[in-house]
Amino acid sequence: MKALVLSGGAGTRLRPITHTSAKQLVPVANKPVLFYGLESLAEAGITEVGMIVGDTAAEIEEAVGDGSKFGLDVTYIPQERPLGLAHAVLIARDFLGDDDFVMYLGDNFVVGGIRDLVDAFRAGRPDAQILLTYVPDPRSFGVAELDADGQVIGLEEKPEHPRSDLALVGVYLFTPAIHEAVRAIGPSRRGELEITHALQHLIDTRADVRSTVIEGYWKDTGDVGDMLEVNRTVLEGVRRRVDGEVDDASETVGRVVIEEGARITNSRIVGPAVIGAGTVVSDSYVGPFTSIAENCRITDSELEFSIVLRDSSITGVGRIESSLIGRHVEVTPASGVPSAHRLVLGDHSKVQIRS
Ligand code: G1P
Repeated sequence: MKALVLSGGAGTRLRPITHTSAKQLVPVANKPVLFYGLESLAEAGITEVGMIVGDTAAEIEEAVGDGSKFGLDVTYIPQERPLGLAHAVLIARDFLGDDDFVMYLGDNFVVGGIRDLVDAFRAGRPDAQILLTYVPDPRSFGVAELDADGQVIGLEEKPEHPRSDLALVGVYLFTPAIHEAVRAIGPSRRGELEITHALQHLIDTRADVRSTVIEGYWKDTGDVGDMLEVNRTVLEGVRRRVDGEVDDASETVGRVVIEEGARITNSRIVGPAVIGAGTVVSDSYVGPFTSIAENCRITDSELEFSIVLRDSSITGVGRIESSLIGRHVEVTPASGVPSAHRLVLGDHSKVQIRS
């Protein structure tokens, strides 16, 4: 069994972070979201992975390499433009051959991994198996309709009037039957070849399409709110580990990870929180559900329920909450007169100022 991991896509809802970085590499508890997926594939006993990459190919390749650090053997498959999930299957035909495969969307996060699902699929071998989960608003997902026996009878991509609140999770299990289906469909309203339509084609041609409703936590890390929620969930599970330096004037409470080479002075860190290697926190408060990556400086500030990417500094700005801060960002107080906010913001930045 192989895996097809999708790591292209523009990540428009995570701009400006995604202007300079792949959405799959945004860190959750200081580890790229994509790595959690790759680890769960390895754990499910899969080694051969085809990685669909787009404009951010170089960055993904630099982060993942040949896959050996995950126990995987990764082959890169460039997709010229984000033309849809079914298009990804189409261009991976040679790589996939006649093997069964898992298709895994690189920005999806499934707590508890996928080993049991893969085992069940291997044992039952339906033509396709989809994962579903209940969501409060299904309109931004693929939506499944089940009959009274739980059989999938219809699928719709991002419907305005969803027939159920069961969303398609971005992990799909396929036999080679999917190849004929992705060739049979045309582009959707948004101009993409939708895997949802290929699955509907399988259903229409009486193939055996099964579904499992997953009970564990799942998130498509599409926007900042989702990223912060996933970060919160992962941090809930961290174990306390203090390898960095904490001075006597500081206090670390609960499940905190202070990486080696990090320094905490005259500060209070309340877990769950992670502080990356080389980061210095001084005269500050870092509250629950916060991940600060490597080589940051947090000085005379308060930070909670936030993600800070590497090489950034936050100095003397009071309290920051619910924020996603990119790499090499500087946040400082404005000095002198006139009393004004001074901003240098990249395209599509979002700033909320309390005035
Ligand atoms: C894709 C699928 C959708 C699925 C979702 C899960 O949407 O088309 O059916 O529910 O992934 O993350 P996209 O993220 O491409 O908008």
